[in-house]
Amino acid sequence: MSIGVWCGRLVTTPKRDVHHGDGIAWLREARLGPEHAIVTSVPDLSEMQPMGLQAWRDLAVEITRLACLRAAPQAVVILYQTDIKVDGRTIDKSYLAMRGAEEAGVHCLWHKVVCRTQPGNTTFGRPAFGHWMAFSRELRLAPDASTPDVLPELGVMTWARAMPMSAARATCEFLLAHTECRVVVDPFCGLGTILAVANEYGLDAIGVELSAKRARKAGRLTTRDGVADSGDSKPT
Ligand SMILES: C[S@@+](CC[C@H](N)C(=O)[O-])C[C@H]1O[C@@H](n2cnc3c(N)ncnc32)[C@H](O)[C@@H]1O
Repeated sequence: MSIGVWCGRLVTTPKRDVHHGDGIAWLREARLGPEHAIVTSVPDLSEMQPMGLQAWRDLAVEITRLACLRAAPQAVVILYQTDIKVDGRTIDKSYLAMRGAEEAGVHCLWHKVVCRTQPGNTTFGRPAFGHWMAFSRELRLAPDASTPDVLPELGVMTWARAMPMSAARATCEFLLAHTECRVVVDPFCGLGTILAVANEYGLDAIGVELSAKRARKAGRLTTRDGVADSGDSKPT
């Protein structure tokens, strides 16, 4: 958070730092405190070619385990994941995330879904819902801290692999209402959807992205009331 003076008034501007590099290496080294929430999506198998399915499954578990180990005890790790089908088999990404969390000794606070299409529609390939999950080692929520378990729509998608705007906004509202986390960290930040939404909500943001082009774009994406502005006309 940086502080400046505007028309004689003190104003605060949320910070955003985007690093071009390997999010896994960054996570291993990062000094994260109770103010840091890790909010991310593990890169999909299709983004990790030529990695095979088993190696990617192991990596997905390891990334969740690492995120859960690196987050401070009172902080949260929040994941958005959409399942995939490979050779007629469903690969349940929430299962992989739960395994990683359990291996880290961290507990699931909630597991919600985001509708990717209207309930009742038939879809082929990816299922009609995404998993939206929160984990913490020590934070526990009071029963009256409950929030909706089903988000009825995606809202704006800044690109095909984005965290949906509905989940990004609801994540920031959850962080502000129920946690002490005021910095959103996305080690696989893509175009920076959650970073931009975090700044819109007054939260600081840190992103890491392997693609230099996306890292640059993640530094300048802005959102307001669920609408995104990439600062240029090309989406990726
Ligand atoms: C599912 S996308 C994330 C989308 C992001 N949540 C958004 O809303 O734009 C995963 C991203 O991780 C990036 N990625 C893959 N491997 C990475 C690594 N080792 N370190 C950092 N980023 C990586 C990919 O380039 C891709 O942009």
